[in-house]
Amino acid sequence: MASRALGPARSLLAALLAPALVSLLVSPARGRGGLDHGDWDVERRLPPLPPRDDAPRVARFVTHVSDWGAVATISTLEAVRGRSFADVISFSDGPPGAGSGVPYMYLSPLQQLVSDLRENPQATLTLSLAQTVFCRKHGFDPQSPLCVHIMLSGTVTKVNEKEADYAKNSLFLRHPEMKTWPSSHNWFFAKLNITNIWVLDYFGGPKVVTPEEYFNVTLQ
Ligand SMILES: *[C@@H]1O[C@H](CO)[C@@H](O)[C@H](O)[C@H]1NC(C)=O
Ligand SMILES: *[C@@H]1O[C@H](CO)[C@@H](O)[C@H](O)[C@H]1NC(C)=O
Repeated sequence: MASRALGPARSLLAALLAPALVSLLVSPARGRGGLDHGDWDVERRLPPLPPRDDAPRVARFVTHVSDWGAVATISTLEAVRGRSFADVISFSDGPPGAGSGVPYMYLSPLQQLVSDLRENPQATLTLSLAQTVFCRKHGFDPQSPLCVHIMLSGTVTKVNEKEADYAKNSLFLRHPEMKTWPSSHNWFFAKLNITNIWVLDYFGGPKVVTPEEYFNVTLQ
């Protein structure tokens, strides 16, 4: 039902996106913030990995230096209803050097992900240092635990008015292109309310970190 109703909206979306795609071809990419805006891919700007035996700190580090991740939901797509389904989202936990640990996102009701979350707000966000220079520099394959990755599980909730300013600033600073996303898509600010954390940063299986330990970490 929902997907039928979204049919015309999707065609409209495609029509709206066409000019945007053309402009992408003629103008430089603005997806990453550049200098002083979280461009961690510049080797000298990636802060050092915290000690691997401090799993809560490692988790906060990965969340903070990541610009995007895979978010898995329980699908409402007819073909795969009830199965896990992962999409890519851009997020930010705060301005560079001042991460809050809370993954903020900018979502639209046009996203399949949002339809899924309306039925079941539970989601798991997986982040990997493979998106930074860290793993390439050390020669770690993305699947190796040495190429640190974490899973954050919880529920996705819309942020309230008070928190929206922080979410907006955190996201737009590190993803400037978001400012230009079409307002007709009714973007809103959301966050992952983290309830469970797993850290894969060494051999021997994932380490479990509690939200209390995770949010207790202060990054400098
Ligand atoms: C976040 O999750 C905790 C634990 O499940 C719950 O008590 C709290 O109400 C949730 N917060 C929001 C904003 O949903
Ligand atoms: C919070 O951090 C302090 C200082 O690092 C530490 O002593 C304490 O054990 C931590 N508490 C939790 C719940 O992690």
